[in-house]
Amino acid sequence: MTYNELKQQESRYVMNTYGRFPIALDHGEGAQLWDVEGKRYIDLTSGIGVCCLGYNNEKIIGAMTRQAHKLMHVSNLFLTEPMVQTAKTLCTQSGMRKVFFSNSGAESNEGMIKLARKYSFDHYGAGRAEIVTLYNSFHGRTVTTLKATGQEKFHQYFFPFTEGFAYAQANDIDSVRAAVNEHTCAVMIELIQGEGGVLPLDADFVRAVEALCRERDLLLLIDEVQTGIGRTGTLFCFQQYGIHPDVVSMAKGLGGGLPVGAVMAAESCCDVLGPGTHATTFGGTPTVCAAANAVLAEVTRPEFLQSVTEKGAYLRGAILGFGSDKIQDVRGRGLMLGIVVEEDARAALVQQCIDRGVLVLTAGKNAIRLLPPLNISYEEMDEALAILKQVFCGE
Ligand SMILES: Cc1ncc(COP(=O)(O)O)c(C=O)c1O
Repeated sequence: MTYNELKQQESRYVMNTYGRFPIALDHGEGAQLWDVEGKRYIDLTSGIGVCCLGYNNEKIIGAMTRQAHKLMHVSNLFLTEPMVQTAKTLCTQSGMRKVFFSNSGAESNEGMIKLARKYSFDHYGAGRAEIVTLYNSFHGRTVTTLKATGQEKFHQYFFPFTEGFAYAQANDIDSVRAAVNEHTCAVMIELIQGEGGVLPLDADFVRAVEALCRERDLLLLIDEVQTGIGRTGTLFCFQQYGIHPDVVSMAKGLGGGLPVGAVMAAESCCDVLGPGTHATTFGGTPTVCAAANAVLAEVTRPEFLQSVTEKGAYLRGAILGFGSDKIQDVRGRGLMLGIVVEEDARAALVQQCIDRGVLVLTAGKNAIRLLPPLNISYEEMDEALAILKQVFCGE
């Protein structure tokens, strides 16, 4: 079908919840995508940070296909080897203790919130269930995670939202202190606010939040849905901040393209959720975990993580090197980058990138966000950079 034919059918049969680009994609290879009309793109989006090892990755496809032939799904009433293996790798590579599997970022955050509230209930009884999150954060689209998200625009229409969230300013420890009271059980943060505009938190602030959590026995909850699985040059971004979170949520890159999420807990709270307190039918299903194991086998290699840092520095250096007055800054870590531009100019710049064959994302009010596959080649980056240069330098 052509784009127009698909668009017509979509308008008729699919709920109109997404502002999509006017492109219908057909297939991909590495960091390249082709649309149904045969136009080729260099992809700097990786399905919003999901396809961390690119498209048509033989190792992921091989692992999931072999597992699907063996056993595609069983319920969590039975053990399977791929699930236990994924949990073991996540723990041994992160220093965390135990894992619960879910299916998406929002669902992982729901699990993280439930865990924090039960920890507090178990230790202090009812009435200590509030969670402090940051303004400008993003934690998901369920009724609870919308409210955890510290942006007023997400607190519309779907009332009543889950109670028990308070908000504080990023990089302002006094603001966090002021938001904490005797009802608080946890502080929940992204280390780089992704959807909010690719805004890394200051290391001093993050360490001060950790110290406050220890002082008040609050759980430190880190949302690594976007920053996790090698995206910033370490398996998890928290490993660069020198902190010890109590709970870490993840999703996106973990399945390399298959839907999966997970919550990891530290020794302090890894046995809080017991039988009957939390569950999900598809969580940790063997086909998806086989894919996750293939992803982790690659992404946990020190040389691979080093290459993510190097590629991020290469892209950032080249983009800043354009010397374009349209670029105010390039921020982020590893291959999670935000090119900061004038708010009013952004839509046209993004459109020009797409027209010339580079797919990019936006974030916050004024960032053009790049989340390329982590194994993007230097040739693919150079091709994308040549086009970005034309766009930003008006060539
Ligand atoms: C930091 C963060 N948390 C949670 C989510 C929600 O994840 P999902 O869309 O898989 O529910 C996202 C999605 O972009 C995210 O970036």
